[in-house]
Amino acid sequence: MNIQSKLISLLSDGKFHSGEELGSLLKITRSAIWKVIKQLSTLGIEVNCVKGKGYQIPNGLDLLNKTTIYHHLSDITRKNIHCFEILEKVSSTNQYLLKELNSNNAKTSIVLTEYQSAGRGRRGRSWHSPYGKNIYLSLLWHFEKDPGELFGLSLVTAMAVIFTLEKYGLTNLQLKWPNDVLWNGRKLSGILIEMMARPHIETSVILGIGINVDMPKNSQINDWVDISEIISTKPDRNKITALLINEIVDILELFQKNGFSYFLPDWQRYDMLNNQTVTIYTNNNQFTARVLGISNKGELIILNEHDEIIHLLQGEVSVRLS
Ligand code: BTN
Repeated sequence: MNIQSKLISLLSDGKFHSGEELGSLLKITRSAIWKVIKQLSTLGIEVNCVKGKGYQIPNGLDLLNKTTIYHHLSDITRKNIHCFEILEKVSSTNQYLLKELNSNNAKTSIVLTEYQSAGRGRRGRSWHSPYGKNIYLSLLWHFEKDPGELFGLSLVTAMAVIFTLEKYGLTNLQLKWPNDVLWNGRKLSGILIEMMARPHIETSVILGIGINVDMPKNSQINDWVDISEIISTKPDRNKITALLINEIVDILELFQKNGFSYFLPDWQRYDMLNNQTVTIYTNNNQFTARVLGISNKGELIILNEHDEIIHLLQGEVSVRLS
């Protein structure tokens, strides 16, 4: 552990620590402590500095713990996941697994991190990833199928997130095609799927999941919500992460056997777009349509202004309620 990580870990208890105490524990001067404290804001960590009391991370940080998470994994999950890593910092967990995949390290893997410096969102957007606050998880999985058979994958991944959060006690969750999880219309979780195919042999898939758990309140992003706003107790990141991993593994096993149609009734229970008027954005166009539902492959079925029924594939479009 470097000095910065040690300092974060000491301050993660949410209590005040004086510069003198920290300096003597880390064997550096008080002014060196101050320099490291200043760097923490670049990681999205808020620190209170109070004269006479010292430094404090308000509410502390609930850091990820590999042993705790592993302890809560089911036997089926442990059998399926060959490599499980928690990184302190990384550019993007998806990017990290893409590199592993390209270097032929093709084991089924899960990687989590406390902080992403270049978290990736859908359609080229970035994903805000402050230190120690949310869940940033990527999973590498191999299907003995071609990409065309995996259309519904991102939808079932979003359902795994919903089932996880319901098991954790959240209600009023909604799905927005293809894979956003919302609470009262505000975004709680996003999913980014990246694929690499070896035609007629297998498709390797990286499922990247971000869940807002306890976002710093000064975060400049629109229309998001986090778990700490929804429930009254302090969210337990390790517990939610373990529930999530178990849920994804179960759902991937079922998806592998049964395809998306098996999950369609579940999707419909949470679908916030069904029967709504929406605006569809393509790369160079936008138009209004009414949503008729989801096909048994996971396509969005819409009725456009010329009364034509169109099946839309994810990746091609983005959808907003009108
Ligand atoms: C979206 O735009 O809604 C998708 C967001 C996906 C974010 C997750 S966080 C873990 C994984 N690593 C990334 O860089 N992105 C995904």
